[in-house]
Amino acid sequence: MAPQIKYTKLFIDNEWVDAKSGKTFETRTPHDGSVIAKVAEGDKADIDEAVKAAHRAFHRNSEWRLLDASQRAVLLNKLADLIKRDAVYLAELETYNNGMVIGMSMHFMDAVIANIRYLASLADKIQGDTIPSDGDTFAYTLKQPVGVAGLILPWNGPIFIFASKVATALAAGCTVVVKPAEQTPLTALALAALVAEAGFPRGVVNVVNGYGPTAGAALTHHPQVAKISFTGSVEVGKLIQQAAGVNNLKRVTLELGGKSPLVIMDDADLNVAIPFAANAVFTHQGQVCIAASRLYVQAGIYDKFVAEAVKHAQARKIGNPADATTQHGPQVDEEMMTKVLGYIEKGKKEGAKLLTGGKRVGKMGYYIEPTVFADVKDNMTIAKEEIFGPVQSILKFDTLEEVIDRANDTSYGLAAGIFTTNVNNALQFSKHVEAGVVWVNQYFAMGSQAPFGGFKDSGIGRESGFHCVDAYLEVKTVSISLPKKF
Ligand code: NAI
Ligand code: MG
Repeated sequence: MAPQIKYTKLFIDNEWVDAKSGKTFETRTPHDGSVIAKVAEGDKADIDEAVKAAHRAFHRNSEWRLLDASQRAVLLNKLADLIKRDAVYLAELETYNNGMVIGMSMHFMDAVIANIRYLASLADKIQGDTIPSDGDTFAYTLKQPVGVAGLILPWNGPIFIFASKVATALAAGCTVVVKPAEQTPLTALALAALVAEAGFPRGVVNVVNGYGPTAGAALTHHPQVAKISFTGSVEVGKLIQQAAGVNNLKRVTLELGGKSPLVIMDDADLNVAIPFAANAVFTHQGQVCIAASRLYVQAGIYDKFVAEAVKHAQARKIGNPADATTQHGPQVDEEMMTKVLGYIEKGKKEGAKLLTGGKRVGKMGYYIEPTVFADVKDNMTIAKEEIFGPVQSILKFDTLEEVIDRANDTSYGLAAGIFTTNVNNALQFSKHVEAGVVWVNQYFAMGSQAPFGGFKDSGIGRESGFHCVDAYLEVKTVSISLPKKF
């Protein structure tokens, strides 16, 4: 049975409101492409209201600003409790609106709860330094929230990315306006309801659904927004960095795409490496920023590896993402499906060898077969551009030095992986590969405690980890006259 859709309006100042224009937009389920709800379509006027509310909530005398830091942690933990209470419903709604297989949605709920609790634990550990200054001065630093933060979300992990960005900003003491992706507006609204139920004061968290060039751009240009955190495409990341310098100077955190290399050495344990390599690219139908979309296999094991990779791709169970046994669901929408199929055609045309998959599954919804290309060359489009679909591109290499240079020959730098039983290979690769995250003999391991983000065009700044709240803080130095002699 389809999960009930309870909220479709905008959430501003802890109230549910229609868009000022009265407009709505349709949202669909990628399983069959049918419209499942009409959601209020916010634009500049609604962003203005939401920023006003967030700005009021940030005033030095507001309920939120007067709250002890430890009480911010209490509220965040209450939110985590409520998410735990509603985890099955939220996961089902995520699967319904996004097409994420239910096993992954449920797994994400655990990650979301752990993440919010970790961030709650940081709230009252934000502290400055006392500084041994020269002369008759005693100096110390305060770390203070930067102000209203605009959080612009993608569709590929709606609940997790909402929770991670919102909880980081709130742990720091900021107030937020969230602009979810237009493809997946529903879970952000369900989470907003839990924010209100948890007891966060009015205006601390606001959610305005709408499109990027209207609602999103209004947020990135708003002079009362002090900070933008964005996850999405490089193309829009660049626009956001430009917009951030127009009406004021916003701090930006950008988590953008990738073309992440995964290297399999001759000496790897193939029983481990082969299934990992398949999951590394096919998980969530390839709609993952850290997908291992360039698989470099050393010459000595290349043929054997390719044959096994094909078997793994063919074994993935395709079907309704709401079915607990499904491993492979639909792409998020028709536009993304068409884009991925276009890349597959380019791969064939440019001479890569299509070994399995390559086609749309049936005519209902947005399903694409797990696809494997071998004999892929570095200059082919499928080896260079982010596909964001279930397409494994396998390339051959001879030496570690060669593969490090080839792995780095890209404008991206988000993640990388290596499978090897030789510690020198692992250490050399980890040292020289240009990526924000490197996995050795595993892939996808992530946790709240470890920083995450990209080198080069894959982004700016880091999320998660002990220092993540710094991205939402200003450092203030206070210098006081304190004569040495008295
Ligand atoms: P996108 O970057 O256009 O959209 C992401 C978010 O940015 C959405 O909320 C959108 O409404 C907003 N946005 C769009 N234009 C904006 C603007 N001018 N100002 C402010 N906000 C704006 O990504 P899209 O179109 O959904 O996907 C395109 C490609 O981006 C994908 O095929 C994939 O390669 C990559 N991508 C990477 C993600 C990641 O996790 N790093 C997530 C989603 C997409
Ligand atoms: Mg776009």
